[in-house]
Formats: sequence, C-alpha cells, structure tokens
Amino acid sequence: SRSISLAVVPGDGIGQEVVAQGLKVLSSVLPQDVKLETKEYDLGAGRWHRTGETLPDSELESLKAHDAILLGAIGDPTVPAGILERGLLLKLRFAFDHYVNLRPSRLFPNTATPLAGRPDIDFVVVREGTEGPYTGNGGSLRTGTPAEVATEVSVNTAYGVERVVRDAYERAQARPRKKLTLVHKNNVLVYAGHLWKNIFDRVGSEYPEVTTDYLHVDAATIFFVTQPERFDVIVTDNLFGDILTDLAAAVTGGIGLAASGNINPTGDFPSMFEPVHGSAPDIAGQGKADPTATVLSVALLLRHLGLDAEAVRIEDAVAADLAERDGAAPRTTDEIGDALAVRVAS
Ligand code: IPM
Ligand code: MN
Repeated sequence: SRSISLAVVPGDGIGQEVVAQGLKVLSSVLPQDVKLETKEYDLGAGRWHRTGETLPDSELESLKAHDAILLGAIGDPTVPAGILERGLLLKLRFAFDHYVNLRPSRLFPNTATPLAGRPDIDFVVVREGTEGPYTGNGGSLRTGTPAEVATEVSVNTAYGVERVVRDAYERAQARPRKKLTLVHKNNVLVYAGHLWKNIFDRVGSEYPEVTTDYLHVDAATIFFVTQPERFDVIVTDNLFGDILTDLAAAVTGGIGLAASGNINPTGDFPSMFEPVHGSAPDIAGQGKADPTATVLSVALLLRHLGLDAEAVRIEDAVAADLAERDGAAPRTTDEIGDALAVRVAS
C-alpha cells in the first residue's frame, strides 16, 4: 500500500470551489490501498490582506515535503497586479524548478468551439517554466517621465533550453505520432531563437524516430485555428507558451477545460497541478465555475505519480460527462464534481 501526501492551495475566487471538486474526484478514483493525506495552505489574496505575506519561506519549506501540490487559482482585483503572480505563483514555479509546464489540449465532445466536430485534435504544449521574460530581469530608466525606457530581458540558458527540449522529445517519442514542433520567432529574436533551434536540432539527432517541425509563433497561432490536427507535441519558451496555451484552450473547448502541470521531472521538488484559468472573481462564490479543468489537472497529477490507470479513468469520465452535457440544463460546480466522482468510482 502507498500513500500520497498532497499540498492543497485553493487560493482565490473560484479556486476554492474548483479545488473542492478536484479533491472529491481524487478521493473517489483512488484505490483502497492508496492513502491520501492532504494539507491545506492558506495562500492568496486573503492572506496578503491580513498579513502582507505572499509565500513565507516557512510555508515554502513545508510545501517542499509533499509529493505534489494541487492549486486552484491565484489573483484578486483588490491586490495590485503582479504581487500575487510574482510573489506566489511564479515563486512556486521557480523555487520548485518547474521547468516543464505541461498543457495538453484535446477536443472533447459538445464543447463550444469553432473547431467542434473536427477529429484528431490532441496535442500537448511543453512550455518552458523557469526562464524567458519571466525571470524579472529588466528595469526602467527615467521612470514616469516622457523619456521612460523599460526593458524586460528574456533569459535563455543552454542548460534551461536543453532540459525542456529533451523532455519534449521524450514525450513525443512516447506518443503514437511522434511529432515535435518547435515554436519560436527566430527571424526576429535571433539570439534566443538560434539557441533554441540549435539545441532542438542537436538533441533531435538522438531521437531519429521523432519527426520535427519549426514554426514562428505568429504562424503557429494561425495553424492553431486552421489546422490544429498538425500538432502533436509543441515545445516553446515561457511567454510564447503562455499565450499559445490560452489560444489552445479557447479553440478546444474553452478555458474551463484546460489543465496544466508545473513539473519538476527530476523529482527533486514537488510538481504542482492547476487549471489554466484564473480566479474569475466575477463568478466566484456562485457555484457557476466549471471544475473540469481542475479535475483534468488531477488526472495529470495522478499520471505524474505513476497512477496511469486512474488518470485515464478521470479523462474518460470527463469525455463521457461532456458527451452527455449536450443540451442539458447548466449544472452547478458541485453537480459536475458529483457526476465525475460517481463516474470514476472504482
Ligand atoms: C498562467 C498564468 C500565469 C502565467 C500568470 C498568472 C503569472 O497566466 O499560468 O498561464 O503567465 O504563467
Ligand atoms: Mn496564462
């Protein structure tokens, strides 16, 4: 028998509501002999208002001891932009070296999307998670004057690029189509672009079975809409990946279904699983949020912990649930969670 020690960070807004459903489905899918221990962490806007803290070192230390982290959403209009994003969410990704930000997209039935009915849309974006313009490397000169100059430097290291590119090749190699597309903008961003392309080509020689492709990011956005079937695994930098995965979510059924994993493949630190959506303060507390993205993030969490069969059960349950959603009256957050918990029960 084994046990899972899970840190739970519900966070702000609908984070609370969707995480409750994610945990409900998780408890329901786990076999008897897997013991689940959860510990909730009070982090987010509420904590910041009360204490001024975003993520104290003591909390970081205690989070480190868990097998994985389930996070709801971070952010609130009452907190100045950037404080919680940098002080909490990005701090976790950087401190726990989540260099693979895994964001799968698959077209589920009955979803409101311009691509409805198109078969074979099933791709995964491997977004670099610890570098690029997210490192906070920049500055401002003559701030607030008409002559202000701001820079926001994108940091790309050979070490950082190679490890995420290698991870993406491994994932492509393990999938039936074995195709990997690098997305960048090397016609303009020549220094970083060439670093990425050179490493992509060099590492690729170790994976002869993987078919490779390169697209500039602007062209990639066109293909996400006109020809999403062409993608299998995509690897890209932190900012391009941020933008592309919102687009991917929008065209494959909406942000209510988009799951993600912030993964530290070495296992040195706990990986963190969260829906791609935010805290949606406009609908918070009303039972309107779709918990499906969180439930699918739980599937990614289980797969990361080696519980593949349970992950598949959750994904199949979501597909079956969506197949029956057609024309049905809208359900509450809790009702969707209950329905999924029943479907996955062993
Ligand atoms: C995401 C979010 C974050 C990001 C923000 C909230 C810092 O948009 O997870 O995609 O840019 O990575
Ligand atoms: Mn984003």
